[in-house]
Amino acid sequence: MLLQVKALKKSYDGAEGPVPVLRGIDMSVAAGDTLALTGESGSGKSTLLHLIGGLDSASSGEVLLNGQDICQMNDAGRAEVRRKNVGIVFQQFNLIPSLDVTANIAFQARLAGQYDAKAAGDLADALGLGDHLAKYPEQLSGGQQQRVAIARALAAKPQLILADEPTGNLDEATASEVMAQMLQLVSATGAALIMVTHSPRLADRMGRQLHLRQGVLV
Ligand SMILES: Nc1ncnc2c1ncn2[C@@H]1O[C@H](COP(=O)(O)OP(=O)(O)OP(=O)(O)O)[C@@H](O)[C@H]1O
Ligand SMILES: [Mg+2]
Repeated sequence: MLLQVKALKKSYDGAEGPVPVLRGIDMSVAAGDTLALTGESGSGKSTLLHLIGGLDSASSGEVLLNGQDICQMNDAGRAEVRRKNVGIVFQQFNLIPSLDVTANIAFQARLAGQYDAKAAGDLADALGLGDHLAKYPEQLSGGQQQRVAIARALAAKPQLILADEPTGNLDEATASEVMAQMLQLVSATGAALIMVTHSPRLADRMGRQLHLRQGVLV
């Protein structure tokens, strides 16, 4: 199994003690699975993706990536696993302002030792970025930045892609098209995709749907 999450809990420190956000999450994801993660604002969707991606540490529980519990690793170990196996599209795109589109797309792939200029160029074309390769993030619209973030995550050929509302800034027609591209690219590489979305229509295009309510999956 690519990903197994077991009894995962996360609390944040509040003024009156710990505030539970995730109260015991169990889920399994195999290679090639596509999952929609839904739930109201503040329900913990981003928190769950951050824990799965090893960007934050859990209060308790396990996150097994290829059988290895990343919760037991130190920050450096988690970063290493993430670089090699996981592609993340954040809710805020986190593009590097001083790099142009081509270099932003290449960034993660280079770190993972997976950079292939031809493949990265094809990816940019598929996502409609071909005319913008020499631009810097501040010269791009929100939707174009979002597509660069998607290309960057896919370019490193990760086994698992975590996407936090990757089409949230796009109009419905563009969102639908970008979504189709993303699903096609994911299925071509055999990667698994976990995507947060508020759109029932986009969620319907994923293989499975998980809903977060009061810190548990329903
Ligand atoms: N670093 C933090 N410190 C304290 N509380 C936090 C922190 N990060 C998130 N929270 C709280 O945890 C809860 C879940 O936040 P999270 O960002 O995971 O929600 P979400 O489901 O992604 O919401 P949205 O749909 O608005 O993006 C919220 O109540 C939030 O206030
Ligand atoms: Mg969120």
